[in-house]
Amino acid sequence: MSGKKWTYENIQDLTGKTIIVTGGNSGLGYEAVKMFSRKGALVILTARDMKKGRKAKRVIKAEFPKARIDVMELDLADLSSVKNFVNDFKDNYERLDVLLNNAGIMWCPYDRTKDGFESQLGTNHFGHFALTGQLLDVLMATKGSRVVNVSSLGHRNGVMDFDNLQFEKGGYKPTQAYFNSKLANLLFTYELQRRFEKNGLDIISVAAHPGGSATNLSRHVETKLWFRITKPLLSIIAQSAAQGTLPEVRASVDRNVKGGLYYGPGGFNEMRGYPIIVQSIKESHSRKDAKKLWKISEELTGTKYKFK
Ligand SMILES: NC(=O)c1ccc[n+]([C@@H]2O[C@H](COP(=O)([O-])OP(=O)(O)OC[C@H]3O[C@@H](n4cnc5c(N)ncnc54)[C@H](OP(=O)(O)O)[C@@H]3O)[C@@H](O)[C@H]2O)c1
Repeated sequence: MSGKKWTYENIQDLTGKTIIVTGGNSGLGYEAVKMFSRKGALVILTARDMKKGRKAKRVIKAEFPKARIDVMELDLADLSSVKNFVNDFKDNYERLDVLLNNAGIMWCPYDRTKDGFESQLGTNHFGHFALTGQLLDVLMATKGSRVVNVSSLGHRNGVMDFDNLQFEKGGYKPTQAYFNSKLANLLFTYELQRRFEKNGLDIISVAAHPGGSATNLSRHVETKLWFRITKPLLSIIAQSAAQGTLPEVRASVDRNVKGGLYYGPGGFNEMRGYPIIVQSIKESHSRKDAKKLWKISEELTGTKYKFK
């Protein structure tokens, strides 16, 4: 296959692989579950709402009866749910080839997670940080495993203001909180890769973003006037969820992917197109910020990464 247009057809047979997709009931996660399961992987579709998760499985199975999909409950905005999910997973599965940290929320009004974290950073970063750390032993026990984090073009506007990381001092802006959480996804990805390398582990950490893709992500702004005005234009620019998921799918399964890389659409301004390696802003590579964020994340989530 040509390296130029990486598509669903490039996905190799995934029989024998076990893949977790967070937020697998909707949008990009749903399309990724579909692709992985069609190629033979056993996919753990996680959903915070089991009804939605089961429905997604039913729809996929109606089209591909051979698809192997197990639905499991996981609410990333609740550390006790993360812990329960990990315990259930470890009780029932022996390997984990890919952990695709896909779930996310965007531009929500100020809210807090069950554990009191600002909701966008809490769901998009802290929840996945805790999940990954608690699954580390299974990832380490699986040869050539991967962690894939889903960021966004919006990370370019993100800042790590450690004095007001969760808007404790006020100034909450829904867009800024989202951008910050997507920068956090990248700082985490690169730091995780450095720690995998330092510890000589056979695991890689990779990031991806979908450009602009038509999903349910904009649900919190759909009633806003500016959104209603720009929607016709957005729907012309946005690519389908099936196309938008390709960067994260490629990051998850392409054998040529190396740790620390970032994939996104190859078209204009990375808004659409086929997945290629892309670059993130220099701030996302700050080792200082990454270490600081790691320490805070370990402390706040009570998740200590045990690399040995
Ligand atoms: N679409 C785009 O253009 C775009 C652009 C840049 C980045 N992204 C990123 O792509 C990822 C997937 O988003 P999407 O576009 O596919 O949006 P989506 O259709 O809204 O899907 C998001 C998924 O995350 C789940 N989720 C939300 N909060 C959760 C929580 N607390 N615990 C567990 N799961 C939770 C949702 O579950 P429910 O269905 O129950 O809400 C849903 O399954 C996100 O990380 C997003 O930041 C998307």
